[in-house]
Parts: sequence; structure tokens; C-alpha cells
Amino acid sequence: FLDLKLAERVVLRNKTKLCSSKPIVTVNGKFPGPTLYAREDDTVLVKVTNHVKYNLSIHWHGIRQLRTGWADGPAYITQCPIPTGQSYVYNFTITGQRGTLLWHAHILWLRATVHGALVILPKRGVPYPFPAPHKEVNVLLGEWWKSDTETVINQALKSGIAPNVSDAHTINGHPGVVPNCSSQGEWWKSDTETVINQALKSGIAPNVSDAHTINGHPGVVPNCSSQGGFTLPVESGKTYLLRIINAALNEELFFKIAGHNLTIVEVDATYVKPFKTDTIVIAPGQTTNALVTANQNSGKYMVAASPFMDSPIAVDNLTATATLHYTGTLASTPTTLTSPPPQNATQVANSFINSLKALNSNKFPAKVPLKIDHNLLFTVGLGINPCPSCKAGNGSRVVGSVNNVSFVMPTTALLQAHVFNKSGVFTTDFPGNPPTAFNYSGGPPANASLATTNGTKLYRLAYNSTVQLVLQDTGTIAPENHPIHLHGFNFFCVGRGVGNYNPKTDPKKFNLVDPVERNTANIPSGGWTAIRFVADNPGVWFMHCHLEVHTTWGLKMAFLVDNGKGPNQSLLPPPKDLPKC
Ligand code: C2O
Repeated sequence: FLDLKLAERVVLRNKTKLCSSKPIVTVNGKFPGPTLYAREDDTVLVKVTNHVKYNLSIHWHGIRQLRTGWADGPAYITQCPIPTGQSYVYNFTITGQRGTLLWHAHILWLRATVHGALVILPKRGVPYPFPAPHKEVNVLLGEWWKSDTETVINQALKSGIAPNVSDAHTINGHPGVVPNCSSQGEWWKSDTETVINQALKSGIAPNVSDAHTINGHPGVVPNCSSQGGFTLPVESGKTYLLRIINAALNEELFFKIAGHNLTIVEVDATYVKPFKTDTIVIAPGQTTNALVTANQNSGKYMVAASPFMDSPIAVDNLTATATLHYTGTLASTPTTLTSPPPQNATQVANSFINSLKALNSNKFPAKVPLKIDHNLLFTVGLGINPCPSCKAGNGSRVVGSVNNVSFVMPTTALLQAHVFNKSGVFTTDFPGNPPTAFNYSGGPPANASLATTNGTKLYRLAYNSTVQLVLQDTGTIAPENHPIHLHGFNFFCVGRGVGNYNPKTDPKKFNLVDPVERNTANIPSGGWTAIRFVADNPGVWFMHCHLEVHTTWGLKMAFLVDNGKGPNQSLLPPPKDLPKC
């Protein structure tokens, strides 16, 4: 049972803003929210009761929801939100999945605080395909916002200009080292002129945060707090499984531990070929399981989460810290430090992402679709549209789009409109290719015209049809990374490159043998990622940038997958307690 309540939480001490308290929406009184444990093949029932003034819905990020789209959770896509005072039971079966995922609110920006780990253990008696760890630890990376995030989103919607500034990044709820802690928090609150100027000067939403956190704790914050943040106790010689989750709204993050390598064994609840690395990169919505062996005798070692942003303009160099603490080490022992990669360390990110390969074992084969029914190319990016009424933006505003369509949220849920044949809610004319001239010649980052149209457009797929989708970053403002999340499916990341996708030469380099399988892809700044999946899940499935501000601006669309004709190929009927709009 998840109980959503408004609670007061004191984040830090002292006087600066980051150290102030504010009411946040918590689940069962917790931030981060409670961990949901289940096993593969379990049927899960979660009763969510809304005790707050906002409408709410919860998404089980990465759960396939085979035939149970009603339980997927994105507000106005698969369900109407749960109104204040009401409950809804999410009822779904975990089919063929085990690993680490996350759950989070899927309406407005409430997921800033309404999120938690979702741990799916293998079936009883089934071992991991890697040595059993001594212990498992959840590591939730997040942000801390001093202000009410709903105020922030309203500002973003009204002005179309970038107030996407959190006040902290967190590791298990605690921000780390935060330079200029006291002044950062004023940034988006200051007069709109400052916000507009910064947004216009930089050309793109500067994802500047005031701190990051690890498991809700900021750690040491200069001029603010000397608290060390989240502590992970370890015993020398033992191996631990870290279930690392990026639950931040707007920031991809690097994660590393001083003096220790990480062995990556799983991402997005799919097993990968184990490999060693000292740094991981993880986008919002992504999860990474890493083994870490406590191979030192004693000591304290810094755990760091810092931003990765391959954008020429935005600056965010805030690092969240936590501590790996060997049992028996005196508290006064100095911590062995590590310096995280710089914000624009694209090489570090690419080398991590390119090292990810599906485990592709006998038990866990990579079933990559080889014959393709829908060969799609979607541009994803941000542009500036005229907006005469946007005073704050001097007559223009930032828009996000996919194939130049800026998605308009409907006022009733798409899945209900589809199943009950309610007309006028959406159209199925989403373009399968960019509608404007597009330069395929390679070279500099793609720069498609982003003159956008608005619409609630879906792309329709027949049951069991196969899809190859190239997601190409474009931008009239500047190139930027986009973590693109597809609901209802896992997909194989068969190719990835910089510059413009070349449909003649690039497919020859695709990995169709052991490509990593995920639910959230990293689209490189000014580059592309090719994914493949089978449309074996009937329903309406949201696809969007998991940088929340980009979603807000319209960088989102949805697929409509028809029912199949055979047994067990149709969407199940809607639950009786499904909320109404
Ligand atoms: Cu984790 Cu549609 O989101």
C-alpha cells in the first residue's frame, strides 16, 4: 500500500536555503519512497491512496505491463490521475523480468520526491548469473529542490522558458558538495529577466542544480553542512551488489567510488556481459547493477555522483557524495577522495555505454528482431517557437518535439479513448520520418528545422510487428543528450553514433548479436541511437525524454499497438476502480 502524504522534511541544518525545510510529497512518510520487492512472475497489487492536493499517478518504470496497460501509470496516457482522497489499485504481473527498476509519480514534476526502488528478485531458487553478493544495497540518485516543484513546472509551462533548476542532486536523498550553496537556490526564483537572459544566452535549458543527493542525503555541503551523507558500511573481502537508480528529474549522472572498480552485471533489469569500469554514466530512468568488492583492508572512500551534460552551454558541476566505510575504521580517518569526470566528459560516457552488451547466454538469449516491418526515423530535440503571448520569453518559447510534432497532452486518457472508441482525443498520423529536409551527409550535428506543429499524434503498430527506430538528436538551439524512455517494452540498442544517421552505411555496423536491452536509451548529443523491438504488447505506450523539462515542453509521443487475433493477445479489460477524468 502506498500512501501519499504531504510531509515536512528537514534536509540540512544551518541557514542557507538548501538547509531549510519545506513540505514535500512523500510516500508512506519516506523520501526516497519505500522499496518495492517482488519476484519474477509475481502478481503485484499496489493500492495507491492520494492524500495530497495534487492529482497523482504512479508509473512502474520498466515493467513490461504485458496486456495490463491500465497499470502503467502515465497520467492522461494510460489512466486519468487519482484525485485527492481516492485510491487506485495497480495490478500487474511481472513477466520475464528480474532486476532493478524504479517507480515514480508520472504527472507534472511530482516524481522529484515521489519515487523509490523496485527490486525484482529472480524466481525462488534461481541464482543470479554472477557470483552471489554478500549484501545488496539500493543507491538512489536524485535531486533536491528547495522550492515546490509544481511552482517550477507551472513557470515552465507559462513562459516556455527554462526554470528547470533543482537545488540539489542527491544520493539516497542526500546532496553532496554544493559550491555556493546559498546563492544557487535563488537562481530560478529571481526575477524572470535573469532566468530569460540565462536561457536565451545559453540557448537551451541550463540544467543547473543546487546539489545532488545519494539515498536522499547531500553529504558535505560547503557553507551549509558538514554531514557526510549516506554511508555504506562494508566488510573487507566481501562483495556487494549496488542497485544504482537515477531518479533525478533533469540530470544524467556519473557515479564512481574512490579506489574501487565496479563490475557491471545488469542495466534496466536486463543482464549484461560483466565488465569492469571505474565510472558509470546513468540517465534519469535508467538503473545499473554493479558488483563492488571491498578489496582494501580498511578506510573510508568517497562515493560521487556528478552531472554528465554534453551540451556546450549549460553548467552544473555539483557533486553528491556518500561514503564507503570499512567496518572498524575510525570515524576520524580521512576519506580517500576521488574526482568525478568533468561535466562534458563525453568520452567517459561513450566508453561506458559502448561497453554494454547483452549477456546473451543460453538462459538469457538476446532475441533481436532481424526482419523489420517499420523502419522509422524520429528526430528528437528542442527548438524555439514564436509565442506572441509569451511575455517572459520576449515573444518566443522553447518547445520540445519528435519529428517536429510537439505533443499536446489530452484531457482524457488515451488508452480509454482508444478502447472505448472516443473520437477527437488523438490522431494516428504521427510521421514515421522527419517531415522537413534532413541532411544525411554526416559531419556536424544534425540541424533540422524545428518549426513544430502541435498535436496528440500516435504512431500505430499492428500486433507483433517489428520496429527499427532511429532516434536522431537535432536542435535549432544546441545539441543535447536525450534519455529516451519507451513504456511497455524493452528494446535492443543496435547502433549509436555521432553526427547524422546514415541509412546506407550505418545499419551495416549494427550489432544484431548481443546488443544491450533497455527501456531508456542514451541519445548522444548531436548523434543518434538505433533501437529495435517487437510490438507484442497491445495498448497505448508513451515514449518521451526522461529529462522532465524536455517532456514538459513536448518532447514526447506515443505508440498505439493493436490487439492481436490469437488467445492472450489482447489488452485485458479495464479495472473497475480505474480513475475517471
Ligand atoms: Cu520513468 Cu514515462 O517514465
